Amino acid sequence: MRTSEPVRAAVVGGGAFGECHLRTLASMPDVEVAGLYTLEQDRAAALCDRYGGNCYPDLEELASDPSIDMVSIATPEDAHCESFKVLAEQGKAIYVEKPLATSLAEAEQMLELSRSITAMSGHCLRFESRIAQVFARQDRLGALRHMSFRNKRSRSEKEVYGRVHPAYGIFCHDIELANAFARERFHRVCALETRFSEGQVDGMNLLIEYPGGATCSIEGGWYLPVQDGLAENDRCSLDFEAGTFEINLPHMGFTFVDSDGYRFFNQQYECNVYGMEFGALRAALEYLVRCLRSDARPQISTIEDGCEAIRLIEAALQSARTGRWVEAD
Ligand SMILES: NC(=O)c1ccc[n+]([C@@H]2O[C@H](COP(=O)([O-])OP(=O)(O)OC[C@H]3O[C@@H](n4cnc5c(N)ncnc54)[C@H](O)[C@@H]3O)[C@@H](O)[C@H]2O)c1
Repeated sequence: MRTSEPVRAAVVGGGAFGECHLRTLASMPDVEVAGLYTLEQDRAAALCDRYGGNCYPDLEELASDPSIDMVSIATPEDAHCESFKVLAEQGKAIYVEKPLATSLAEAEQMLELSRSITAMSGHCLRFESRIAQVFARQDRLGALRHMSFRNKRSRSEKEVYGRVHPAYGIFCHDIELANAFARERFHRVCALETRFSEGQVDGMNLLIEYPGGATCSIEGGWYLPVQDGLAENDRCSLDFEAGTFEINLPHMGFTFVDSDGYRFFNQQYECNVYGMEFGALRAALEYLVRCLRSDARPQISTIEDGCEAIRLIEAALQSARTGRWVEAD
């Protein structure tokens, strides 16, 4: 691609996270916001006024604009594949939000399409600064023994993200991290669902075993009461031969207390420093830009990684249905 000019980046899907992408891209000195396509034209016009770029009337027009180098897909979970196909056919570099897809068949189709382009799946926790430090040290930590992830989300989030099973909406992040730390495809998984309200399943527990002997437990769901202070209370613990890491998300050491109680800030996406966006999403997008400029295939949060996460989710859902362990192959 052109090396001396900014990378021109567009977004498909202008909801809460699509705006997060626009705000982050607008903060990156090496990037120019090319525009947005989303279903609601009023919303698209407001976002383009705020962050710059063109308001595209449809996906085809955005995809065929030769001035666009890279596109973030931030549509709902089950709509990623349709945009991915159109953009990949036009050779765009793509960052596709998590989960890669909501079926393994679609994920595998996206994997095939991605072979001729520069693309990443949006597991931005791989770029969370503390988690990235564990990955950087992994070769000096000896054998991986156990991983445990616990995600408690506010019940109000179920109103939006309950459109998909929590395995797709919440745990795909942890599953992708677990696979990446284990450095191999899982051997078997068993899962149990928790239901206590109407509609979508409320929570899930998973146990995963890897062929090399490492094990993983993941649990969580939309359990937190609706309140203003804390939308997500996530933790992970990573046990290696050499020692154990404990990580809280958000960082519980940074709080604000007022007459309504304590508040905690999500520094993964809302890490705004004097108008500039930092945090995990920024790091992930910077990484994709660097790959694009150097014509290198991304090695972190790849489309293969996104696809493997979906493979494990499908096995976990099968286990929850049958009450049995499910093996990978
Ligand atoms: N990485 C993370 O930690 C993280 C956090 C939140 C959300 N997400 C993911 O980001 C994606 C978007 O989430 P959100 O919270 O912004 O959802 P949202 O419902 O707020 O927004 C989705 C937007 O996409 C638009 N849209 C729907 N179908 C479309 C189509 N075919 N073409 C173009 N636009 C379309 C909708 O009109 C809406 O504006 C989801 O996959 C979600 O799981 C990731």
